[in-house]
Amino acid sequence: MSDRITIFDTTLRDGEQSPGATMNLREKVRLARQLEALGVDVIEAGFPAASQGDFESVQEIAGSVNDICVAGLARSLKSDIERAWDAIKGAKNPRIHTFIATSPLHMEFKLQKTPDQVLEMTEAAVKLATSFTSNVEFSAEDASRSEPEFLARVVEKAIACGATTINIPDTVGYSQPEEFAGLITYLLEHVPNAHKAVFSVHCHNDLGLGVANTLAALRAGARQAELTLSGIGERAGNAALEQLVMALATRKDYYDLDCNVDTTQLFPACRLLSRIIGQPIDPYKAIVGRNAFAHESGIHQDGMLKHRQTYEIMTPESVGRAGTEIVMGKHSGRTALDSKLKELGFLHLSSDEVDQVFTAIKHLADRKTTILDEDVEALVLEEVFRRHGRYSLKKLSVLSGNIDMPPTAMVILDDAENEDEPVEKRLSGFGSGPIDAVFQTVDTVVERAPNLMEYKVNAVTGGADALGEVTVRLEENGMTSVGRGSDEDIIVASAKAYINAVNRLIIKEGEKKNGTYAG
Ligand code: KIV
Ligand code: ZN
Repeated sequence: MSDRITIFDTTLRDGEQSPGATMNLREKVRLARQLEALGVDVIEAGFPAASQGDFESVQEIAGSVNDICVAGLARSLKSDIERAWDAIKGAKNPRIHTFIATSPLHMEFKLQKTPDQVLEMTEAAVKLATSFTSNVEFSAEDASRSEPEFLARVVEKAIACGATTINIPDTVGYSQPEEFAGLITYLLEHVPNAHKAVFSVHCHNDLGLGVANTLAALRAGARQAELTLSGIGERAGNAALEQLVMALATRKDYYDLDCNVDTTQLFPACRLLSRIIGQPIDPYKAIVGRNAFAHESGIHQDGMLKHRQTYEIMTPESVGRAGTEIVMGKHSGRTALDSKLKELGFLHLSSDEVDQVFTAIKHLADRKTTILDEDVEALVLEEVFRRHGRYSLKKLSVLSGNIDMPPTAMVILDDAENEDEPVEKRLSGFGSGPIDAVFQTVDTVVERAPNLMEYKVNAVTGGADALGEVTVRLEENGMTSVGRGSDEDIIVASAKAYINAVNRLIIKEGEKKNGTYAG
């Protein structure tokens, strides 16, 4: 049996399904390129039948990456499989990933199908998928709560029909490591044609065992692991890619398994994801959290000084945490920015876009003494990736404090409805606090009244002069949208995030009208 593990990243599909992790097309393409630089073998780019937006981003990713395999997810339905193929066929190495649930609970209540019908659907789906490509993955959803004998029959059928990868998900994170390993062993021993396919696992983290279950399954003979950066995903998320990869690297003596991931790209990849989705990395998170390599107590510090390995099982450098450089100051030139952008993986910015980022950095450097990689990433996302949509913030002024009058906001927005000549809309309004005044005034300008469901502020770096990054979630007429914005001034960042969310609501409204909205 091979000792090389296929790393299948589903950050852009299962990860993006998690609350607040929605990304726009450019953000997804940027992340896909980062995953390629990281060295994963397969990128699951999305679920093309879910919405027009999903279809377009999968198609764009398929055309943007090089030799890496691009998978598109599809239920075991003709229309889903055809749509997935249409989206990924432009990739050099496309894979159709089709799935159907096999547990009694899911078959009876969700699918309302008998086991025989599920077997028939498996056969039809895999046969259709293999008529498009020989690279077909089949997943038995809720496999860990399925009857092993029935699961083995479904898997045998999928392999007989041409599936080359068989994925066994622990969909609800229910399994325990020995038990899950036992299921893989059972399938490898009882499915007569098991040797014709690669067995894969996809473990959710509801009991915090996603990585442990994946590692146990690899020890039992699975050879593909489905993972997400920082473990994002449905509910408690998926097994975290960086943790699994570093377990294999650090305990090579124990697992004796290899993969193609460049571990020095792990931290940059997780940091980029965190910037894109506006969710900070938990300080205690293994490998990528701020505290993961911090030694606070005197005894530990003393030990570290005498011999690093006393308290360090891997080095920060090995996961790409070499210490962030100061990249630009007030007097740095555009050439320095050009090379920094390339180093950070922003390879496809137009000259105008680089100019925009350069101006923003100069502006930031007037107020912030040290500009770090994180700042540059945040500014690119703000200035280039999020500047899409009908409205953009032109000017904002807010008056607030403990004076005897309500907080006031004056807002000027550009309205790009008429692209040749953006219209300026200006208004002043009041609110119960400065942020409320801004949001209410924007509502009046854009003539909408969404409900604010969530409002979150994070600092991009440490220090009082750090860029603030705001995430807002809005709801209107049954549609929700997430917006993000960053600025040195958190009130301005809040306005940008709010406008970004309004723009996304407008896009969703358009999709609803033309029947491509999927929620
Ligand atoms: O968790 C799951 O079962 C899935 C499948 C679609 C692979 O995400
Ligand atoms: Zn999943």
